[in-house]
Amino acid sequence: MKIAVLPGDGIGPEIVAEAIAVLDTIGKRFGHEFHFDFRLTGGSAIDKMGVPLPDETLKAAQEADAVLLGAVGGPKWDVIDYALRPERALLGLREKLGLYVNLRPAKCYSILADASTLKREVVDGTDILVIRELTGGIYFGQPRGISKNETCEIGINTEVYTTPEIVRIAKVAFELARGRRKQVTSVDKANVLESSALWRKVVIQVHKEYPDVTLSHLYVDNCAMQLIRNPKQFDVIVTTNLFGDILSDEAAMLTGSIGMLPSASLGERDGRRRAMYEPIHGSAPDIAGKDMANPIATILSAAMMLKMTFGLDQEAGVIEDAVLAVLNEGYRTADIYSEGTTKIGTKEMGRRIVEKMSAVTL
Ligand code: IPM
Ligand code: MG
Repeated sequence: MKIAVLPGDGIGPEIVAEAIAVLDTIGKRFGHEFHFDFRLTGGSAIDKMGVPLPDETLKAAQEADAVLLGAVGGPKWDVIDYALRPERALLGLREKLGLYVNLRPAKCYSILADASTLKREVVDGTDILVIRELTGGIYFGQPRGISKNETCEIGINTEVYTTPEIVRIAKVAFELARGRRKQVTSVDKANVLESSALWRKVVIQVHKEYPDVTLSHLYVDNCAMQLIRNPKQFDVIVTTNLFGDILSDEAAMLTGSIGMLPSASLGERDGRRRAMYEPIHGSAPDIAGKDMANPIATILSAAMMLKMTFGLDQEAGVIEDAVLAVLNEGYRTADIYSEGTTKIGTKEMGRRIVEKMSAVTL
């Protein structure tokens, strides 16, 4: 099992180190051999090689069975030309690996519900899967750019969706809903945008093959409001690249901490399944190198990888149980700390999770 590891910037290397320790423990306990191929990406690649996604990093990602990514970006590189910014590494990987599905589960752990800024009774029990289309829409649509006329500059981006792009993401949503509460909410802006009108029409067509799943539609503005008003009404949300970017951040906050949430980006290229796993949160430059970051989102991303790429469900379960056990004992990193719990650092959180995994009887 070959895994390309791209720690990236800011807290990336610290949290990825803990996820690797967790995978090493799985390897030892279950007799699996993981081969890790560490590569530079994002700002750290810009510093050493001049570009955010060096060819050798892309090649390693293409050759691996899966990619594990930490986070990219930071103020240091915010001044660089847009085409060379750390974020381009992410977008390049998504595009080059054909990762059109982005799964962002937002599950509120009951014991962490008080860490949310919303009331416990609103968020406790929330279990939403946001499915974001990841290789289309306004992120990639042409034309784009900044041009000039006689009087001013003009910035242009274009929201584009084709029928096949909508069909394949809608199918993923209905398929995954079947393993959950069988409820899909498709989110668009069909009252204003033609690309959304097509989105809605195609989702309705695809739904005919899934009569056992309930489909409803929401405009994105209403969805943003409903997520805060009553998040428990949602099961699977399927939406476009840009709307998914925004709504998944919002959904993340329902769970108490963005530091807890894993994600998977899946797709296909050159006849091979492709996958990249990463925490939902960013590189948090303000706490980088301070042993303060929460490694759980990355550790749970590694668990998602075991499940979705390698079919190792039991192994993933061992990781998830260990995380819960440590939280149940009251240990918290700063982002999920509340009164009466014990604040610990990145390394100790990783160490305690590994300790639980080592102690469990198989
Ligand atoms: C995300 C991030 C990225 C995005 C940025 C860093 C390019 O916000 O993964 O949600 O907009 O997709
Ligand atoms: Mg985002």
